[in-house]
Amino acid sequence: MVKVAILGFGVVGSGVAEVLTGNGAGISKKADDLIELKYILDVRDIPDSPFAGCFVKDFAVIEADPEINVVVETIGGVGAALDFTERALKAGKSVVSSNKELVATHGRRLLELAAQNNAVYLFEASVGGGIPILRPLSECMAANDILEICGILNGTANYIFTRMVQDGIPFEQALKGAQANGYAEQNPAADVEGMDTCRKLCILSSIAFGWHLLPEQVPTTGITKITLADEAYAAASGRRIKLLGRAIAREDGSVCPYVEPHFVSLQDPLGGVEDVFNAIKVKGDAVGDVMFYGRGAGKLPTASAVVADVIAAARQLTRAGYHPWQENRPEKVLPADQLESAWYVRLAEGTLSTGEKLTIAGGEPGESGWITQPMTRGQLDALLADRKVLSVIRVLD
Ligand code: HSE
Repeated sequence: MVKVAILGFGVVGSGVAEVLTGNGAGISKKADDLIELKYILDVRDIPDSPFAGCFVKDFAVIEADPEINVVVETIGGVGAALDFTERALKAGKSVVSSNKELVATHGRRLLELAAQNNAVYLFEASVGGGIPILRPLSECMAANDILEICGILNGTANYIFTRMVQDGIPFEQALKGAQANGYAEQNPAADVEGMDTCRKLCILSSIAFGWHLLPEQVPTTGITKITLADEAYAAASGRRIKLLGRAIAREDGSVCPYVEPHFVSLQDPLGGVEDVFNAIKVKGDAVGDVMFYGRGAGKLPTASAVVADVIAAARQLTRAGYHPWQENRPEKVLPADQLESAWYVRLAEGTLSTGEKLTIAGGEPGESGWITQPMTRGQLDALLADRKVLSVIRVLD
């Protein structure tokens, strides 16, 4: 018998309780053991909940209960979530998490702590919501040296772009829709300023390259400055705007990670990814390009990935884990400044001497949109000196 405690009864935690109990018979069969929800930790009183009998307010109850084998951490953040994760692992309980911030910041140490205590720390739901990505990357692509990771990793940002383009609504209104659907973080700044994508890129990179890439090492630009005019110029060039997390490996073992909005061609599979969907392209030296696609946020898709980890933890306890991450390697992190690409530029007035001019219907008088030749950001800044620049967005090659 495997008894489970869920920490945090928010969007994801409540989804985990629903899936664990609603699909209970099939889940227990696949785990080769009976899986039962015993506790839910939350500071609130929720008397109307069908799980009312499970609620506790003190983590010590869970920590001290020898019947609890698996703890699901869906609190988020790096405060109580870190404390409870450490205590659960030290008590020999496996921990399953959807907490990107915690894994991206403390993942290496928590994996080590799990191994020391004969437990596992699993976090499939922390990247790509319901998409199976971390276990396939860690196990099914293990024969490859990973050359590049490039992904749409934030459902909220992608939902906002889709609503802006398809419904013609402004940014703020589109964000409200993402919040109403349970896609956005409690503080949506993490979604729209790119930190959530940055954290997910760090988790993917740490698994792919074997050493812990830290969020502060990833230059990150969000989507708050994107306007409907930028979207119109993207459409005029046969592209869409997507927030991408990218990590490009060099032959010498160094890695160039960054998060930025990009113009992405509609011919590229990433260009057609809409709504809350995420997609992650991984290039291996043997397999070539592999793409993972699915719902990147939301209650039940995320719960699907969490519960799969509960089953994995129940089945194999110590053998289900990820490979250990080595210490951070600052000397291996390259700046994105040297990365050449074409650029989209929107000018308030005047023209550019080189590049392709874009035309949209109903643009502001004097404004113009351009796609430049490939160049570094430094070369672009030199080209744009003395111009009135409204937008600059990298074009994905
Ligand atoms: N806020 C996140 C997103 C949730 O929109 O992608 C899933 O990690």
